[in-house]
Amino acid sequence: MIDIGRIGIIGGSGWLGTAIAKALVGSGTVAAERLTCSFRSGVPENSVNCHWTSDNSELVKNSDVIVLSVRPDDWSAIDIDADKKLVVSVMAGVTIEDIKRRTGSNRVGRALPNAAAELGYSYTPFFIDSPEPKDSETIITLFRSCGVVDAVSQEEHIDYFTAMSGSGAAFPALLAEAMINDAVVRGISPAIAQRAAQQVIIGAGRLQEFNGASPSDTVKSFVDYKGTTAAGIIAMRQNGFDAAVGAGLDAAFRKAQALSTKP
Ligand SMILES: NC(=O)c1ccc[n+]([C@@H]2O[C@H](COP(=O)([O-])OP(=O)(O)OC[C@H]3O[C@@H](n4cnc5c(N)ncnc54)[C@H](OP(=O)(O)O)[C@@H]3O)[C@@H](O)[C@H]2O)c1
Repeated sequence: MIDIGRIGIIGGSGWLGTAIAKALVGSGTVAAERLTCSFRSGVPENSVNCHWTSDNSELVKNSDVIVLSVRPDDWSAIDIDADKKLVVSVMAGVTIEDIKRRTGSNRVGRALPNAAAELGYSYTPFFIDSPEPKDSETIITLFRSCGVVDAVSQEEHIDYFTAMSGSGAAFPALLAEAMINDAVVRGISPAIAQRAAQQVIIGAGRLQEFNGASPSDTVKSFVDYKGTTAAGIIAMRQNGFDAAVGAGLDAAFRKAQALSTKP
């Protein structure tokens, strides 16, 4: 693991900031004494025992890498000079150009973890715009503590992933909810229906991790088996499953693009 230097998380008091701070320290990526987190209202009780400050300029002074983890609505109130430092934003919809302009840094990345960061199971795509070749490796090391990381080649892809992987458990939960509703209509008790659907989602994730088969391979093997599941898959597809998912992701993508604050 490379040394990624001293890290500062602006908004380290928040939900995602806390998850990142815990992952960084818990995985040994950064020692607590090399981590500074900033807060606005107060220091959360359940976070890491690092250096805490309400002064973002102090945080910047103490850090080599600055993670911006405030809500997009609070971004306009952040006033820092991060010239020559690597700045990594996890804020949805805030552009690299805007971050460069407002922080004075020419080393800026955007990363998009999801809620599973708390468990070390996030998927985190990132886009980097920096003259420093090692900045990419720094971001990979930083977010590998939260799960799986990929570099993407266009900033717009981060807006797409805000809609797709950034949604975390939401879309699998939507599928599970539809299954529960169907089971309940057929007279199965809501508690049992919920337990069944939840266990299907959990088991599917575990199996995916265990056997490494791609989703396409999994679907194909069931279709090829020509059993009850194949009948279900074919009927779902004939009734617009892929189109419904495509339309949903498109709507979420357009919403993420609309969030983008053009400087
Ligand atoms: N939650 C997710 O799953 C997720 C996934 C991907 C990306 N994101 C992005 O991550 C960012 C943070 O989301 P979140 O869910 O962690 O929100 P959050 O829980 O509201 O955390 C934001 C934190 O920033 C603090 N803050 C606001 N202004 C500040 C300032 N000037 N200086 C220092 N701290 C300040 C807030 O303090 P207060 O306590 O005073 O409000 C709050 O503790 C957002 O931009 C979001 O788009 C979130």
